[in-house]
Amino acid sequence: MSKQTEKIKELVAKREQARLGGGEKAIEKQHERGKYTARERIDMLVDEGSFEEYDMFKLHRCHNFGMEKKQYLGDGVVAGSATVDGRLVYVYTQDFTVNGGSLSETMSQKICKIMDMAMTMGAPVICMNDSGGARIQEGICALAGYGEIFERNILASGVIPQISAILGPCAGGAVYSPALTDFTLMMENTSYMFLTGPKVVKSVTGEDVDSENLGGASVHATKSGVTHFTAKTEEEAMEMIKKLLSYIPSNNTEEAPRVECTDPINRMEDSLNEILPDDPNKAYDMYKVISAITDNGNFFEIQPKFAKNIITGFARFNGQSVGIVANQPSAYAGVLDVNASRKGARFVRFCDAFNIPIVSLVDVPGFLPGTGQEYNAVILHGAQLLYAYGEATVPKITINLRKSYGGSHIVMGCKQLRSDLNFACLRQRLQ
Ligand code: HXC
Repeated sequence: MSKQTEKIKELVAKREQARLGGGEKAIEKQHERGKYTARERIDMLVDEGSFEEYDMFKLHRCHNFGMEKKQYLGDGVVAGSATVDGRLVYVYTQDFTVNGGSLSETMSQKICKIMDMAMTMGAPVICMNDSGGARIQEGICALAGYGEIFERNILASGVIPQISAILGPCAGGAVYSPALTDFTLMMENTSYMFLTGPKVVKSVTGEDVDSENLGGASVHATKSGVTHFTAKTEEEAMEMIKKLLSYIPSNNTEEAPRVECTDPINRMEDSLNEILPDDPNKAYDMYKVISAITDNGNFFEIQPKFAKNIITGFARFNGQSVGIVANQPSAYAGVLDVNASRKGARFVRFCDAFNIPIVSLVDVPGFLPGTGQEYNAVILHGAQLLYAYGEATVPKITINLRKSYGGSHIVMGCKQLRSDLNFACLRQRLQ
């Protein structure tokens, strides 16, 4: 065998070893936990054969606490570029089979490299979290690694889309990277996010709470609004990310991909005459209005379980991606409150940053009164929504369906907030 062939064989063997992450036993354990490995996750997300891995053989440099003997090729993250539906993305996936996916200095360097390349190329970053947090043995170096990542999350905000999938533990300061990204998805039952775990909570506040009730997907989807999506299986999670990507551009200088439209843009929709009741106090389901007017009735909802009094999500008109913001009369009469304002503001700002026109379907009775709202700064959160609409320079179309009262009339994309076109139904009441 020539020396060259020998070296190639050595390289192939090394790659095989790297692909095993923390080893077969650890992979088995990961599967037993009901979770896929980092590489399996990437395979599920990206176009077949498109993943180009970087720094596959990189090792950590820690010599404390015997860590020099705990070396795995690539350390605890798999990172690289790929395509999703033919479009370039950068992706990194924490590998729980290697030291619980805990973040080392080396891992942060790998992650930052990916994020820098994504910024240079103008492509989305998808991060899959499954980690025990900062690698304890590396102390401040691991913390510095988080700092580097957070700074890049901040600089990339509004420039390239950033999507976080929480597919396992995500605790401590580590939660702030997903929080700084545009969209977060959590796995039902196998993931959690919190600043401090149940034991610390018990010792500080005396509360008895388990991980699921403290920071599980159900909590963050319904109560805190930390996560935008939840999925029952990792396959479903990857499909949701792909769908989300289909509605958004790769960066803030591009437009969302246009898809072929089979639904005539000029069709008349008689069902609208029946959906809206004559009685202004009678509820109706805004989802029916949305599905009646969008291409083929399709709607990809963002935060469907949080602040149900406002609906946000992507749809298409004539194949063009739009952001829909709609009051929901069948949930608290569609009133605006702290959570609805937060949810709406964040979505409007995303659409504005990424050249996605905003269509507002308005049927709003006002802001929710009371101490609960005032103490939780409804003034500031309402102002966030107002600010988001007022500063947005993407095309804005507002349709007043029935009522639009008081301050909430102004906030929901009124003419004076530079809305481009405002329609009002004949039965509409402005007060
Ligand atoms: C080093 C870690 C680790 C960590 C897990 N491991 N977390 N190694 N640093 N933070 C290692 C374990 O020692 C173990 O190694 C392997 O990963 C798998 O972990 P298990 O405990 O066996 O798994 P499981 O039972 O599923 O429990 C997962 C876990 C638990 C709940 C995440 O490991 C855990 O509580 N880890 C510590 C969490 C933590 O306190 N992190 C620091 C948060 S503070 P072996 O070799 O046995 O396989 C933080 C600050 C960030 O992150 C601040 C940013 C600004």
